[in-house]
Parts: sequence; C-alpha cells; structure tokens
Amino acid sequence: MLSLVLLSLCSVVLGASSSNQQFLANSAVADILSRGSPILGFDNGCSSSSKTCDWMKNYPDSTLLVRMNLPGTHDSATWNYTQATQDSLLRYTGPEADPAAIYQCQNKSIFDQLNGGIRVFDLRFAYNPGNDTLGFHHSQALLAPTATVDDVWFGFYSWLDEHPTEAVLISLNYESGTGTPRDLKLEQLIYNLMNNAVAQRYWVQTNGTLGTLGEARGKLTFLQRYDYEFLPASATRLGIHLPPEQWLDNTPIIEIVYNQKENLIAYIEDYYEIDGLPIGAGAAENIQWKFNATTAHIENATMYNRDSLYISFASSEHDADVPAETPEIMALGNGTVPGVNQKLLPWLQERKGKRFGVIMLDFFDVVPGLVEAVIGL
Ligand SMILES: *[C@@H]1O[C@H](CO)[C@@H](O)[C@H](O)[C@H]1NC(C)=O
Ligand SMILES: *[C@@H]1O[C@H](CO)[C@@H](O)[C@H](O)[C@H]1NC(C)=O
Ligand SMILES: *[C@@H]1O[C@H](CO)[C@@H](O)[C@H](O)[C@H]1NC(C)=O
Ligand SMILES: *[C@@H]1O[C@H](CO)[C@@H](O)[C@H](O)[C@H]1NC(C)=O
Ligand SMILES: *[C@@H]1O[C@H](CO)[C@@H](O)[C@H](O)[C@H]1NC(C)=O
Ligand SMILES: *[C@@H]1O[C@H](CO)[C@@H](O)[C@H](O)[C@H]1NC(C)=O
Ligand SMILES: *[C@@H]1O[C@H](CO)[C@@H](O)[C@H](O)[C@H]1NC(C)=O
Repeated sequence: MLSLVLLSLCSVVLGASSSNQQFLANSAVADILSRGSPILGFDNGCSSSSKTCDWMKNYPDSTLLVRMNLPGTHDSATWNYTQATQDSLLRYTGPEADPAAIYQCQNKSIFDQLNGGIRVFDLRFAYNPGNDTLGFHHSQALLAPTATVDDVWFGFYSWLDEHPTEAVLISLNYESGTGTPRDLKLEQLIYNLMNNAVAQRYWVQTNGTLGTLGEARGKLTFLQRYDYEFLPASATRLGIHLPPEQWLDNTPIIEIVYNQKENLIAYIEDYYEIDGLPIGAGAAENIQWKFNATTAHIENATMYNRDSLYISFASSEHDADVPAETPEIMALGNGTVPGVNQKLLPWLQERKGKRFGVIMLDFFDVVPGLVEAVIGL
C-alpha cells in the first residue's frame, strides 16, 4: 500500500513506464527508512517460530482494544542512546545533564520491538537541531539529529503493510525542556503529519474512542499526550486525547476522562522516579516500591472497569540515589537483586488469562517470556 501511495505520486511527476515508477517508489521508501534508521533500526523480520510477530491474528475482530493485554515500551526511541551516541551528538547539544544510561530505556530497535510483539509505543517529539524538522527526544536528550517523525511514521506504515493483522498504538508526547522552541510552526508540522493523505490511510480516523481490533488492524491508533496551544482545539481530531495537565507527573494513580459524553476513562500508573525513598535506599528497595505500584495498578485492571483503558508503566529510575538507579537497573536488577521485569514475569504468569491492559516496559525483551506473559500467550 505504501509504495502504491508513492507510486501514484511518482506517476503524476513522471508519466514514466510503470516499472520505472515502481522502482522509483521503492527507492523513495528505502531512502526514507534509511533516514529514519537511527530511530527505527532495520527490519530483520521474524523467525518462523516466533509467537510474538503476528500475535494479534489469533484474536477476533470484535475484540475491544481496551479489553486486550498490550505490551508496550516506555521511551521506545531511546534504544541506541548509548554513551557513544550521546558523545557523538555533543556538537548539537552541548554537555547533557546526565550520562546516557539515565536516558536509555531500551536496547532493541523499533522494528525489533514490533517483531517482538510490542504494540504500544511511547514517543516524545520536539524540533530537531535547526528548528525546521521534528525529531525524537527523551527529556533533554536529543536521540537522533536527522531522523524525522515523518520518516519514522513511514517505518510504522511499511511494517503494518507486511503485518496487516496487527494494530499499533502510538502515544505521542511533546518533550519540553529540550531548549528548542514551542511555536505555531511546530504545531503545524505535527498537525500536517497527523492529517496528510498518507496519515488518513494509516491512522484510525475515529475521535475520542478506542474501537475494536478489527477497526485498528493494519493501522496506527493515536494517543495524543500533548495539547495544541497555537492551533485551535479542533486540531485534536484523531484517537484519544490524554492532556498533559491531567497526566499528573510521577503519580501512581492517574484518572483521565478522555471522552466526557460517553464517560470513557483512562487509568494510568506512571510513578517513574522513586522519590519516596531516601537517598541510599539501594536497588532492592527502589525496585520493590516500583513493583508494588505497578502490580497494584495491574491488579485493578484484572478486576475493575472492563471497558476502560488501563496503562501501567513498569519502567522507572531513581537518579538521585547513590549510586543512581538507572532505568536498566530498575528493570533488570543490579546483578545481585532482581529487577521489576524479573519480578513481573511470575506475577503475570500466575494471572494468565486476566485482563492487564497496556503494560509499558523498559528493556522489554531481556527477560525471556515477559512479552508473552503480558499478552497471556
Ligand atoms: C547506533 O549508535 C552507534 C554509536 O553512536 C552508531 O554508530 C550506529 O550507527 C547507530 N545505529 C543506528 C542504526 O543508527
Ligand atoms: C541489552 O541489555 C541487556 C541487559 O543489560 C544485555 O544483556 C544485552 O547485551 C543488551 N543488548 C544489546 C544489543 O545492547
Ligand atoms: C532554535 O531555537 C532555539 C531556542 O529558541 C534558539 O536558541 C536557536 O538559535 C534556534 N536555532 C536555529 C538554528 O534557528
Ligand atoms: C474529538 O473528541 C473530543 C472529545 O471526545 C471533542 O471534545 C472534540 O470536539 C472532538 N473533535 C472533533 C474535531 O470532532
Ligand atoms: C545491588 O543492590 C543491593 C541493595 O539493594 C546491594 O546489597 C548489592 O550490593 C548491589 N549489587 C551490586 C552488584 O551493586
Ligand atoms: C508493597 O505492598 C504491600 C501490599 O500492599 C505492602 O504491605 C508493602 O508495605 C509494600 N512495600 C513497599 C516497599 O512499598
Ligand atoms: C484500585 O481500585 C480501588 C477501588 O476502586 C481504589 O480504591 C484504589 O485506589 C485502586 N488502586 C490503584 C493502584 O489503582
């Protein structure tokens, strides 16, 4: 479908033979994916024994998305933000506030995440250097100076063309605190990306509701975590809106009514900075606190509000602790004590078959079987 969209563009431009047009369209897609590769990575496909590659094909079309168990990744775009990457970008950013390990939350690419069964992506945009194109950030950290949001959307579209049974949710947040401007031009750029002709084909076009799997297959579903401040409110017309002023910072229990008329509520656990503990509490206690907050929330998802959206973040850090608890230590432990992901695996397995909702993971694939346990495979 994607190269067909470009093909029709090319045929207008060229009036050339169809094999030339096809070649040109394919080359254009390859070029876009290559520019997006610092965020997308490369699509290495799935092994034939993979249970996670096209896992949604086994669920009926009528399944409501809110009743599904959807594995997600927190700060999905940070997978290649190693110290080498941070160092290579200093000419754009100047010194960063923290070492790369504080910002890195994944180490598998977006394509690997898709092939590994991840269906919810947490992405944060702001201007790329130069303030002319939109790119990806985590907090202050610039993740890739030349890959654009546009390029990365094409990556998702092309993957969905290959996996038409799958439905992918994109949560998009504006990353403030990057030192780049927030202005009308930025909002026009993101608005156009979300509403241009290609987007109209690849994003679910309903407003204010999350529908069924059948409606969402082969498409992206939008979770808009930013407000339009310069464009009119009517610019918010796709997916569901989770306004940043209601998404309370670092909070274990958040409730956002995303559709007043039908009283549709999102229940969210996003306690990410374990600041309730004193400095020096150590990895084990920080991990226990986070595990508690996450499982208390998922427990509710198994019992209540079957038709509401539950999002539980299993990801966290405590960078003020000494030594710092990085996202990796919180997720995977420090070598001596287990992390949230190891503790979550048996907890989820014991509750197999229950509704968990969306669970957002750091380093999602390092503990084998965790994605399968989230889905309930
Ligand atoms: C990942 O980062 C390294 C080091 O900065 C870089 O050499 C490599 O090209 C990056 N990978 C991709 C796919 O961009
Ligand atoms: C990802 O992180 C895990 C846990 O630290 C490590 O074992 C693995 O080698 C890393 N993989 C890559 C590709 O960096
Ligand atoms: C981008 O915006 C920042 C903040 O407003 C400004 O300091 C910087 O000079 C701008 N860069 C360019 C290339 O316009
Ligand atoms: C989209 O839905 C929201 C909430 O359900 C509503 O406030 C808004 O007016 C709708 N926007 C459009 C363009 O229909
Ligand atoms: C991991 O953290 C615990 C305290 O929670 C500590 O006793 C242990 O020494 C730490 N292990 C490493 C390898 O740092
Ligand atoms: C974790 O939750 C349990 C049960 O609610 C509670 O008894 C315990 O004190 C909590 N532990 C921490 C470290 O928060
Ligand atoms: C779980 O649900 C109960 C009952 O509605 C509520 O009192 C409690 O705050 C919820 N806990 C979490 C962690 O969402």
